[in-house]
Amino acid sequence: MSAATHAAIDPARVDQLIREERARFVADHPRSQAAFERARESLLGGVPMNWMDRWVGGFPIVVDRAEGARVTDIDGHTYVDFCLGDTGAMAGHAPAATLAAVQRQIARGITAMLPNEDSTWVAGELGRRFGLPKWQFTLSATDANRFAIRLAREITRRPKILVFNYCYHGSVDETFIVLEDGRLKPRAHNVGPPVDPAVTTRVVEWIDVEALETELGHGDVACVLAEPALTNMGIVLPLPGYHDALRKLTRKAGTLLIIDETHTMSAGPGGYTRAHGLQPDLVTVGKALAGGVPIGAYGMTEAVARMVIAAEVDDTGGIGGTLAGNLLSMAAARATLEHVLTDEAYARMIPLAERFAAGVEAVIAAHRLAWHIVRLGARAEYGFSPEPPVNGGQAHAAMDHRLDELTHLNALNRGILLTPFHNMALMSPATTEADVDRHTEAFAAAAADLAS
Ligand SMILES: Cc1ncc(COP(=O)(O)O)c(C=O)c1O
Repeated sequence: MSAATHAAIDPARVDQLIREERARFVADHPRSQAAFERARESLLGGVPMNWMDRWVGGFPIVVDRAEGARVTDIDGHTYVDFCLGDTGAMAGHAPAATLAAVQRQIARGITAMLPNEDSTWVAGELGRRFGLPKWQFTLSATDANRFAIRLAREITRRPKILVFNYCYHGSVDETFIVLEDGRLKPRAHNVGPPVDPAVTTRVVEWIDVEALETELGHGDVACVLAEPALTNMGIVLPLPGYHDALRKLTRKAGTLLIIDETHTMSAGPGGYTRAHGLQPDLVTVGKALAGGVPIGAYGMTEAVARMVIAAEVDDTGGIGGTLAGNLLSMAAARATLEHVLTDEAYARMIPLAERFAAGVEAVIAAHRLAWHIVRLGARAEYGFSPEPPVNGGQAHAAMDHRLDELTHLNALNRGILLTPFHNMALMSPATTEADVDRHTEAFAAAAADLAS
């Protein structure tokens, strides 16, 4: 669609709709609002974790319960949940098999700083899925990334890592850095950085092969930490051939390649890595693996495992965690991988995301909006530019906070949860076609409001 054929969006109309939708949200959620006010007395910012206050509407809905693909708040509203805890609940809320395993395991011990047989099963299954033979466990994907980076630095004896502009890999110090006009800068809102991240990190734009080659050419990069497709600034897919170049150049430079599959596990049971035959040295993952019970994991090749063993890494020197690999996480992960996030489940979830994307695309076309949608397996995300951005810098520049706010308010007021600070929708094994169609209808109504 050419720019001339796009409908213009009137900013005054956006502001007016935001005001109306906010008022509706407040009127519909008196209990959540009162609970939030009480929470402000004891919780910093009124929420247990700071970014929960970034839901739109002035306060978050307060959860009563969550089951399958539904969340019910204390005002009695039930939502179709496409946020799914920003992937933490990708298996659906309280899936039966995970719930049963958790109940069984809790009665038999939660943590012992000893393995159970489930840990071996889960490592073997992750090996089958991602094609890497040796695994370790953490309590979060952030820790999986932190430990993988530390191991990479230890065994290569190199000081730096390389990341892509506007990446997100959890709260990993080295990654809060951006490239602006060719210069490295700490990313906005980098809280109390231990050192200037330019000391630890090189940054290139996604798919800029030339810049990648130049930066790796310094010979000081222990590892590249990369999502196989960027998912934290919209979804930015790689261009054909990019992963081949990334692998070739990292091998040439003696740099390890860590692929972070925490979100891209939407691409299939073995994430983007298996779906596209990538050959990373390490893979990191977390969030949904144990059906929402805290877990993270990192896997490595035999060659990396041999180097780690040879380095006699002491697990108290920067990697570790008392509760990592605990009995409960392992039991939950086994049940989730064996019975919930199965190959068959993905075969249902991915067509649902296709249906979601087709519905959104049809609305965009009908209203001639200068918007787009990108899908990656079981997840899809719309953005407010006519074409999908091709790198993180472009994706950041294309953000529109007002339209973001309006979209989320529209969704909330029509019984739908989208991921905050994204327009991301994720399908779970419990999501249905009717859920997807409900979103399409709400999105169509919101687009019509905007156009009127
Ligand atoms: C790609 C990626 N890796 C790692 C993480 C960190 O996950 P967690 O916050 O569960 O540690 C995130 C969080 O959103 C992520 O998007």
